[in-house]
Parts: sequence; structure tokens; C-alpha cells
Amino acid sequence: MKTQFSALTFLLACLATESVSVSITDIQGNSFLSPLVGQFVQGVQGIVTAKGTSGFWIQSPSSDDVRVSNGLSIFTSTKTILAQVNMGDLVSLNGFVNEFHTDATVLSVTEIGSPSNITVLSSNNTVTPIVLGVDRSPPTQLYSALDTGPNGFLSLPGNTSQVEAVNVPLQPSLYSLDFWESLEGQLVTVPNSTVINFQNSFGEIWAYGEWPVTGKNSRGGLTLTANLVGQVDANPETIIIGSPLDGTKNPKVTIGTKLTTITGVIQYQFGFYYIMPLTAPAIVSSLPAASPTTITPNSTDACVVVIGYYNVENLSSTSPSHINAIATHIAQFLRTPDLVFVQEIQDNNGPTECDLGPCARVTKMRACEMIATWSGGVQYSSVEVIPENDQDGGEPGGNIRQAYLYRADRIKLAGNSPVGGALDANSPSALLRFNPGRIDPTNAAWNDSRKSLAAVWERVGGNGERLFTVNVHHTAKLGGSSEQGNLRPPINEGADQRAAQVTLVGNFVKSILEKDIFANVLVAGDFNEFVQTTPVFKSFDGILIEADELAGLPPVERYTYAFDMNNEQLDHIFVSPSVALRPVQVEHVHVNQFATSLTLQISDHDPSVATIRLC
Ligand SMILES: *[C@@H]1O[C@H](CO)[C@@H](O)[C@H](O)[C@H]1NC(C)=O
Ligand SMILES: *[C@@H]1O[C@H](CO)[C@@H](O)[C@H](O)[C@H]1NC(C)=O
Ligand SMILES: *[C@@H]1O[C@H](CO)[C@@H](O)[C@H](O)[C@H]1NC(C)=O
Ligand SMILES: *[C@@H]1O[C@H](CO)[C@@H](O)[C@H](O)[C@H]1NC(C)=O
Ligand SMILES: *[C@@H]1O[C@H](CO)[C@@H](O)[C@H](O)[C@H]1NC(C)=O
Ligand SMILES: *[C@@H]1O[C@H](CO)[C@@H](O)[C@H](O)[C@H]1NC(C)=O
Ligand SMILES: *[C@@H]1O[C@H](CO)[C@@H](O)[C@H](O)[C@H]1NC(C)=O
Repeated sequence: MKTQFSALTFLLACLATESVSVSITDIQGNSFLSPLVGQFVQGVQGIVTAKGTSGFWIQSPSSDDVRVSNGLSIFTSTKTILAQVNMGDLVSLNGFVNEFHTDATVLSVTEIGSPSNITVLSSNNTVTPIVLGVDRSPPTQLYSALDTGPNGFLSLPGNTSQVEAVNVPLQPSLYSLDFWESLEGQLVTVPNSTVINFQNSFGEIWAYGEWPVTGKNSRGGLTLTANLVGQVDANPETIIIGSPLDGTKNPKVTIGTKLTTITGVIQYQFGFYYIMPLTAPAIVSSLPAASPTTITPNSTDACVVVIGYYNVENLSSTSPSHINAIATHIAQFLRTPDLVFVQEIQDNNGPTECDLGPCARVTKMRACEMIATWSGGVQYSSVEVIPENDQDGGEPGGNIRQAYLYRADRIKLAGNSPVGGALDANSPSALLRFNPGRIDPTNAAWNDSRKSLAAVWERVGGNGERLFTVNVHHTAKLGGSSEQGNLRPPINEGADQRAAQVTLVGNFVKSILEKDIFANVLVAGDFNEFVQTTPVFKSFDGILIEADELAGLPPVERYTYAFDMNNEQLDHIFVSPSVALRPVQVEHVHVNQFATSLTLQISDHDPSVATIRLC
């Protein structure tokens, strides 16, 4: 604060006597907000490094202080002003120092607004960009000093403090928000970047350059993991490549695509630090479509059950090509597991609302017929609980729900209990009251969300050992605030509701284990949450163990989804202590994250396969 005050005092003193030049580094200062915010400044000089449709960027000689950026955004969409300057011009200008943001959940951009008296002092100057990975490298683990709490940036609740309210001097060697902020407006070069996700709907690309990274998986993406002391590592060393400033278009990419070297300016927008490339990078290489067939062995052992779980993204009879593709995955890449937990099966007529009572709410599982075609005749049956209309969230009219697909030659529903109705609460009886039946479906925790579906099974030809299962699809993460936003920790939308849902599932599992401590119980599906958000999963402590842990899967290979800067795991499988004592295998089968283009992705989630032993 001392530095800021002295700069301000100095400036005010000078303004009182005569107009003096203010430098870019004076304006940027050493923290998030400009010490000169709101002031009219004169004679700001810099060389034009980049031009876009809503302004240009200038750069001056660097400061000795690594926290202070020497680049600056000049905001104007006035075409005549933009026409006045060219890249390489050394300009002088006046204007107001703004901290611009769209809302208080995101960080603000330090910029000059309403620029005036723009004078070109010389032309054809060059600015040598700093090379990221050589001159400076981003920190690899933490976003912000304010992400305190045992789960780091995933700690609950969110928004216990705000970056710009605290606004202390930057610590760019420790925290990535501070690192990128210290380069705000600067021209940088990112050598040979590697892409970690498909392009987003705006053609923007998350990538990392040739600098140290953590969480790297075998495909070249970066997985959300926890470090050795349990701090969550959400890949702050990545940057998003924005729309090229010269109007060229970024290429279409996949996880692991390598791009040519990018030069551009660092600009915060839409809640993230971007590099705005001067021109589009080209693809150096893309990975071939892998053949991620499960290696899980088939077994004729009647103690073994092979489980699949798969969020099939709004599957309905209205899209035969979608059903066909999902059936191919189950038949050829999952190799026909005995029991498949599916999420997001829709009504027969898809999202179309049906005015004629429950006419279309039943799902005719055409996928079963298609699997038979693709597997050379393996027959699946299916079982579901028909939901009430529009009470479970998801696509309006679609009534997404969980269902079990099962190979009747290998596994059968145990006992004679009836299938439950939408509002029937399942409970342990001799086996289960409903088979399958929903868990506490009228509980407020399930409001506008999918009710968990419990069932009990036994192996055909087995010795009568039972397997209790719960198929989950918890409430989505929609909303929330940016990982790179002002609110720390970021708001994890729906976390409280997901925790309440996990609690109901946990209570149900406890009620089974209270009757039989050795019961085989398995809970799987789309939890819409990372296990590193430990408070959400607290109710499983002591009763359910994550199968990925038991199987010893490397943490960087635990992902079923890609979102922004992370390859991440939303889909999980947990088992009861008696199952955990026997061998467990798990594989995440990356049929969708390894697709060779976004349009070839069949679901946004990858399916998984696990093998457990009942005896
Ligand atoms: C405009 O810029 C020129 C060149 O830097 C400078 O000499 C002049 O004083 C400026 N005028 C105002 C009103 O700032
Ligand atoms: C700047 O360089 C371009 C060619 O790169 C040349 O056409 C132009 O005359 C130069 N301008 C000045 C002011 O030197
Ligand atoms: C974040 O917290 C601040 C300070 O308590 C509050 O003013 C603001 O409304 C909160 N924002 C959100 C989105 O909850
Ligand atoms: C990285 O890019 C440089 C050019 O900027 C090139 O010489 C080098 O071969 C590239 N490295 C790899 C591993 O592609
Ligand atoms: C496993 O079963 C599937 C069909 O159920 C079959 O296509 C495959 O060849 C079997 N694999 C082995 C190793 O037996
Ligand atoms: C599935 O439905 C959700 C919720 O409406 C929607 O966001 C998503 O885009 C849909 N996906 C497909 C492939 O239709
Ligand atoms: C249920 O969810 C809806 C929509 O998300 C919301 O408007 C309503 O207030 C919620 N009701 C309860 C009892 O939580």
C-alpha cells in the first residue's frame, strides 16, 4: 500500500503544478487494482503491440518489479481512433484509468478508457515478447492465497473473501491469478502449446506451453488432482487461447493436440486470463483416435460381477444414431459388462412434452437390441422407475432418469419385490421393499433432481450371494463462479444439495449394513462432483470406499470428463467394506474424451468399467 500511496501522492502533487506523463507501470501498480483507478492521466507512452476491434494494447520498458506489468489495454471501439494507430507505433495518449468488469464475481481489467490526444511519436518499433516457459513460468498448483480451507479452491463455502476487496501486492511465483495479473496487457510468446480439451463453443482453446506442469495424464491433458499435502490442484498453469486478433480462426482441436508457437497479449475477459493471439496457431500434430477398449477380463467365475457405468447424455428413441453409438460403446469398448448403470435415459419421445398422461414416459430400451447387434448377440434386459413428469431436472420434457441394463444370462434381480413407483421409498426388508426402487424420493434434497435408484441382484449360477446397488445422478454444477474469478474460494453451485443427496444415499447404505455388516453394496454413477470436494462425500466415510483407490489407479488417469482447464472425474464407484476386502479393478474408458473431434463425441462423459467379487 505504501508504494501505491506514494505514487498517488506524487501524481497529485505534479498535477497541481503542470501536466506530467504517467507511465504504464504507474498505472498497473503491483496489485490487482490500479492505484490510479478513476483518474485522468496524460502523456501515457507505449508501443502498440496488438490491435483488436475494441481497442489496442501498448507496452513500455519493463519495471524491475516482476509484479508490475508494463502492458496496458486501451479501450475504444471508435474506428477512426483505431485507424490512427498501427502495430509498432510509439504513441502518447491521455485518458481515464478504469477497472472494468461485467459483474463483481469476476476480476476487472485495468485499462485506459476514452483515449484522447493520441499522438504517434515514431513507427516501426519492435517489442520483444517475453517467452513463457523461458523468461517466466506460471505456478502449477494454486490459484490464490485466499483459497484457504482444507480443500483449497474446492473448500466450502465459497466467497469467504474477494480478491479485489483484499487487493494485496501480487505473489506471482506462488499463485496463478497473481502470475497472470502481473502480465496483464503484456505481449507474450507461448511456445509449442499442448491442448487439454476440445475447443469451446466460441472456438477458444485451453492449453499449456513448454513449462513445468502437474497432473499430466497419458493423453497429454491435465487432470484435477490433489498434491502430496492434499491441496487441490486445478491446473492453474493453463491459459485459454482467445479468438485471434487478426480475424483468423483457431483450429478445431482435441486433448493432446500440439499447436505452433503463439504470440499475443494477456487479457482478462469472461472470468478468465486469456492470451489473445495476434494470429491463429496451426496444428502441429493431433493424436489418433485411440482404441480404448477395456482390458477388464471376462470371467466365468460366478463370484465375479463386471459393472459398467455411463452417463449417456439425453438418450432417447428419437435419435437412432445416438442409441446406435452408445450400444457400440457398451458392446465393443466396455465389452458387455454384466450390469450397466446408465444415467440420462429420456422418455421414449425425447424432450417432447406429452399431454396424454404417461404415454411416453416409459423408456423402451432400444439400446438393448442394438447392443445385441454389435456384440454378436449378447442380450440385455432393462429396468427403471418411471419418473413423474418434469420433476427431476435436465432437459425440459425429457425426464432423464437412471436405469439398469443387465445381462439376464449372468445376473438377475434378487427376490420377488415389485418395481417401485416414482414416489415409493425403498428400504431394506427381507431384501429390498422395491426392486428397483427410489431412495426417499419425496425428500427435499431431490428437488428438481434425479432420485437415486436402489436394486438388489444375484449372479445366475452363483451361490446366492447378493449385490445391493445404488445408481446415482446428482444435481449438476451449473452456475457457480469462475475458478479465476474474484470470489474465493469460487462458489461451487449445488454443492450443498449434492452433499444432502450423498447423505440420503449414505443413510440408505447404512440401513443395509445395519442388517448385515458383510452386505455387498456398490454405489456408482454421475455424482457431478470431484472426490476432492471431501465435505460433499463426508456421509460415505466409514461405509463406502472409492474403487479407484482400491484398484490403485494412478490419480492422473482418473477422469471421465473435460471442462475448461481440467480433465476431471464426475463419475465414481464406491463399494462397501466386504467388497473392498476382495480384488477390485476399475478402468475409465475414454471413448468420448479421445474422440477425434467434438462432433464425434457421443456423450460428454466417458463410461467406466469395474470388476468386483461377491465371494
Ligand atoms: C497531446 O500530446 C502531445 C504529444 O505528446 C503533447 O505535446 C500535448 O501537450 C498533448 N496535449 C494535451 C492536451 O494533452
Ligand atoms: C515502416 O515499415 C514499412 C515496411 O515494413 C514501410 O513501408 C514504412 O515506410 C515504414 N514506416 C516508417 C515511418 O519508417
Ligand atoms: C460474495 O460476498 C460478498 C461479501 O459478503 C457479497 O457482497 C456478494 O454478494 C457475494 N457474492 C455472491 C455471488 O454470493
Ligand atoms: C518448439 O518450437 C520450436 C520453435 O519455436 C521448435 O524449434 C522446437 O522444435 C519445438 N519443440 C517441439 C518439441 O516441438
Ligand atoms: C468377452 O466377451 C465378449 C462378449 O461378451 C467377447 O466379444 C470377447 O471376445 C470376450 N473376451 C474374452 C477375452 O473372452
Ligand atoms: C442434454 O440436456 C441438457 C439439459 O437441458 C443440455 O444442457 C444438453 O446440451 C443436452 N445435450 C444434448 C446432447 O442434447
Ligand atoms: C425446488 O427447486 C425449484 C427450482 O430449482 C425452486 O424454484 C424451488 O424453490 C425448490 N423448492 C424447494 C422446496 O426447495
